[in-house]
Amino acid sequence: MKIVHITDFHLPAPGEDLWGLDAHDRLDRCLTDIARWHGDAAFCVMTGDLADKGDPAAYAWLRDRLDDFPLKTVLMIGNHDSRDAFLAAFPTAARDDNGFVQDVLETEIGTCLFLDTVKGPVSEGQYCVQRRAWLAAQLERAQDRPVWIFMHHPPFNVGMPYMDRIKLEEPEKFANVLSTHGNVRHLFFGHIHRTAMVNWRGIPCTSLPGLNHQVPLVSESVGGSFSVEPPMYGIILIDGDSTIVHFDACLDRTAVEMG
Ligand SMILES: [Fe+2]
Repeated sequence: MKIVHITDFHLPAPGEDLWGLDAHDRLDRCLTDIARWHGDAAFCVMTGDLADKGDPAAYAWLRDRLDDFPLKTVLMIGNHDSRDAFLAAFPTAARDDNGFVQDVLETEIGTCLFLDTVKGPVSEGQYCVQRRAWLAAQLERAQDRPVWIFMHHPPFNVGMPYMDRIKLEEPEKFANVLSTHGNVRHLFFGHIHRTAMVNWRGIPCTSLPGLNHQVPLVSESVGGSFSVEPPMYGIILIDGDSTIVHFDACLDRTAVEMG
């Protein structure tokens, strides 16, 4: 089964740029590339920071752009999003009984869980007691089926001081819930705006660059908090024996000169 992963495209209002980059154009070209080459994917998941400042006009633009995107798309929120503005633009988006933007998808490879880690208008993430109860119930329902976790904030450090200060709060409590299930296969996350592969408590975890700006691994290397590095989408290939994650820098892909 194939899954497409995109994250952190940070749309401003239409007509505005962000850090000198055209976030709308970048997402548009990325979606066009996915539709052309990966139309066979089971679904596309967007792991949050859909809008840069939770602007309703940004969500309206995204809703319109997705109208003719052929893949089933799971939209998740991150710390730059406004839960209220998002739900106003996407009123049919799944949410749990407490109003958090959380969803479950049963697939041929197991149970996919999409978590809402938004705390509010702050950068760090939160997975509160209500959300932990929801997760515990989903894990119990999954029984021994494989579980695949998608979330915006990582519940662990990634070795970048700037990001490690704004990861998920209370990671131990989150880890304790996950540990009740013995078959969590992979955790896919966003937030850190770069590719990282992490093994956390025995669970493989991967992240992606954002589609607009990135966070430099060493901030002094660019003299600031953000950088321009190739955006990428993830192509996740899962079968009975393996999980493969490809990172495709589609906007920087050109043919070599033959001759
Ligand atoms: Fe972000």
